[in-house]
Parts: sequence; structure tokens; C-alpha cells
Amino acid sequence: MKEIQPGVYRKGAKMYTKAASSQKVYGEKHVQEDGETYREWNPNRSKAGAAIENGVDLEIQQEDTVLYLGAASGTTVSHFSDILEQGFIFAVEYSDTVIRSLVDLAEQRENIAPILGNARNPEEYSDLVTECDIVFQDISQSDQAEIFIKNAEKYLKKDGTALLTVKAQSISTARPAEEVFGEVKEKLTDTFEIEEEALLEPYEKDHLFLKMKLS
Ligand SMILES: C[S@@+](CC[C@H](N)C(=O)[O-])C[C@H]1O[C@@H](n2cnc3c(N)ncnc32)[C@H](O)[C@@H]1O
Repeated sequence: MKEIQPGVYRKGAKMYTKAASSQKVYGEKHVQEDGETYREWNPNRSKAGAAIENGVDLEIQQEDTVLYLGAASGTTVSHFSDILEQGFIFAVEYSDTVIRSLVDLAEQRENIAPILGNARNPEEYSDLVTECDIVFQDISQSDQAEIFIKNAEKYLKKDGTALLTVKAQSISTARPAEEVFGEVKEKLTDTFEIEEEALLEPYEKDHLFLKMKLS
């Protein structure tokens, strides 16, 4: 295994994180090497995984605290949890059915706080969440940029890293994705400096991944 980013490994064409729990989360393959168990990270099931495959350095350090918006059942959260050996994830999800699997996942691991909350109202979870090194969002809503800005302004440390997945079709099905991405970037530039960007094809169609810092 070759470490390509902190806590992220590659062997051949596959990407892995070091398993913090022996439990499988989404049917992923587990591989033993040098007395360690590694979990395959499938970029077709995780936009953060797709971003790494497409060359983005997520800049997640193993001691970081992460605010994760749109946690769903915890597919990507589980890989972040593996990476954050000394860190912690606040995982926000607003569907009370989907969050059940996330709660199960958090029971197997030490570093995940599942939060049932609406990311549109960041004040809802201000008693639970601290300032974070990373704010990550994967939410398919027409106001995804506005949701992200509110959360980053409230919870991201000054020198922290903002990671955003933009799904063009959630904003407009009528306009070309490139036009939608341009409009989203325009909205973001009052608050952020864009450091890296990548389209997520071939893993996801019409998705843009942005890495930013507060300006
Ligand atoms: C594309 S899925 C996330 C997949 C997940 N990031 C992963 O890779 O494992 C988007 C999730 O965002 C949640 N969501 C949508 N709007 C939300 C909101 N306003 N607040 C919190 N969660 C929201 C949805 O319920 C859904 O589970």
C-alpha cells in the first residue's frame, strides 16, 4: 500500500483507507496487508473518493475536526472516520430514516457524532458542533451554495479548508452544467478563494468539486 494523502492509500488501481472497524459499511472489499485491514474506497459511491481519483488533494489531516453536511447513511463518512485517527466528524443529515444507518455506524466507531438537523439552519446544531478544520458538503438542493456559505461562515476555522460538491441538475435541469457551475462559483467568490476544482466524471455526471479557503 502506498499512502497518497494522509490516511488514503493506493494499491494498483484501487484506493483504500485503513479500517477503524472490521464492520463493512456498503459492501466494500476488505484487504489484509502487513497486519492491517484496509477498506476499498469506491469512487463511484463517494464524491470525495471521485475527487481524489481526479487529482484533488483533500487536505484532511488525521487530527482534524470535520463538519460533514449531507452525511446520508455514512458511506463517505466511514472513510473520513478511518482517515481521522485522532480527529472527529460532526455528520449532519436531515432525513430521519437515512440517519438510522449513520447512527449504527457511529456506534461502531469513536469519532462520529451523527446529528439530525437541517443544514439550511446552522444554528440548529450550534450546541453540538465546534469550529472545524474542514467543512464538507454533498447536498443536492437548489440552494446548495447558500447552505454551504452559511455553514462555512459559522463553523470553518479561518485557515480551514472548504470542500464542496456541486450537482448542476439540482440547480437547473434546463441550463448547461457549465453555466450553472459558473453561477455557483460567482456566488462563492464573495466568501471564498477557490484553490482547486475538478469535474467528477467519469464517476458522476455534471458534478463539480471545489476546494476553497475563506477569503
Ligand atoms: C447525495 S446524498 C449524500 C451522500 C453522502 N455524502 C455519501 O457520500 O455517503 C445527499 C444527502 O443530503 C441530505 N440532505 C439534503 N438536504 C439536506 C439539508 N438541508 N440538511 C441536511 N441534509 C440534507 C439528503 O437527505 C441526502 O441523504
